[in-house]
Amino acid sequence: MINIAIMGHGTVGSGVAELLINENGRIEDAVKSQINVKYILDLRKFDNLSYSDKFTDDFKVISDDDEIKIVVEVMGGINPAYQFVKECLLKGKSVVTSNKELVAAKGAELIDIANKNNVNFLFEASVGGGIPILRPLISCLAANEISEINGILNGTTNFILNKMIKDNMDFEDALKIAQDKGYAEKDPTADIEGHDACRKICILAALAFKKHVYPNQVETTGITDITLDDIEYADNFGFVIKLIGSAKKLASGNISASVRPTLVSKENMLSNVDGVFNAISVKGDAVGDVLFYGRGAGKMPTASAVVGDVIDCAKHLNAREYLYWNDGFDSYVETPDESTVLYVNATSDNSSELLESIISLFGEDIKMLRSSKDNSVAFLTNKDTKSKLLSKIKCIKADKIKILHTLF
Ligand code: HSE
Repeated sequence: MINIAIMGHGTVGSGVAELLINENGRIEDAVKSQINVKYILDLRKFDNLSYSDKFTDDFKVISDDDEIKIVVEVMGGINPAYQFVKECLLKGKSVVTSNKELVAAKGAELIDIANKNNVNFLFEASVGGGIPILRPLISCLAANEISEINGILNGTTNFILNKMIKDNMDFEDALKIAQDKGYAEKDPTADIEGHDACRKICILAALAFKKHVYPNQVETTGITDITLDDIEYADNFGFVIKLIGSAKKLASGNISASVRPTLVSKENMLSNVDGVFNAISVKGDAVGDVLFYGRGAGKMPTASAVVGDVIDCAKHLNAREYLYWNDGFDSYVETPDESTVLYVNATSDNSSELLESIISLFGEDIKMLRSSKDNSVAFLTNKDTKSKLLSKIKCIKADKIKILHTLF
């Protein structure tokens, strides 16, 4: 029998407990041993569960118990998760986590501690919810040099954008539903401002390119500025708006990384990823493009990934050593002057001056759309370097300008 502890009994933690405690022999068959949930750490009381006797509010009970071989951390946040995880690893316990904030901030250090203590630190659930992505990336695709990763990495924002696109629902109503469904973080700011997707692209980039990428190195923009008008304009241009996390290997050996609302061409498979689903497209030199798709948030999909890691740990109680990356450095993430097409939404009370300035800067043939509701005009630029496009956009005679990137 292998004893484990679960730290946190929120949305994901309760899913993990249910999967492990109610299991009907399938997990025991896979591990060839029983997995016993000995403790669940939470400050709250859960008196009416069939497993209420397992709760403790004292971390020491877990860390001091030598019978505990695997600890699941599903509390979220950096503190106290970081101290708890570190102490467990130092005491020779393997740790499984879904905590992308922790992995994005402290991954390199915790992997190193795990390796030195001959235990595992696994975090498949930290990216893409239930989608198997981290293991395939570093194991099945190990023969490839990865050049690029693009993905829809946040279920909450994809759900909100989808509700806005398909049901014409406004932002706040869609967010409320995403919260009720258990997709959003405790503080949904992390979802809608792009921080959650940023942490996930940091983890993917670290695994693909083998150096730690810190969230503050990634240019991050959320979806709070996206209006129903933008969605309608995008649709008319043949695009849908998605929050895209992206990381690319540059010729210099450094990388570029970003999270931003992007007009995705309807020809691109990512444009069809709806609701809470996530999709991650990976480009390797041997395999070409591979797309990973599935539910990116929610109790049971995420618990599925966590329990998969628990089973892996239980089958290999000593270190697996396949997840690793080195520490990063300040200039590792660059902002290259990429060749691109930008979406521009410009508003002015003087519409004739606005239109004239756009035509004189971008040419007569440019396709422009005008809103019936306000004084805005939207268009897609021609393809050019971002710096040249931005210097032209600066000269548009408008009161307000919104710029979004595109993905074909
Ligand atoms: N809040 C996250 C999301 C949960 O919406 O994707 C899964 O990481």
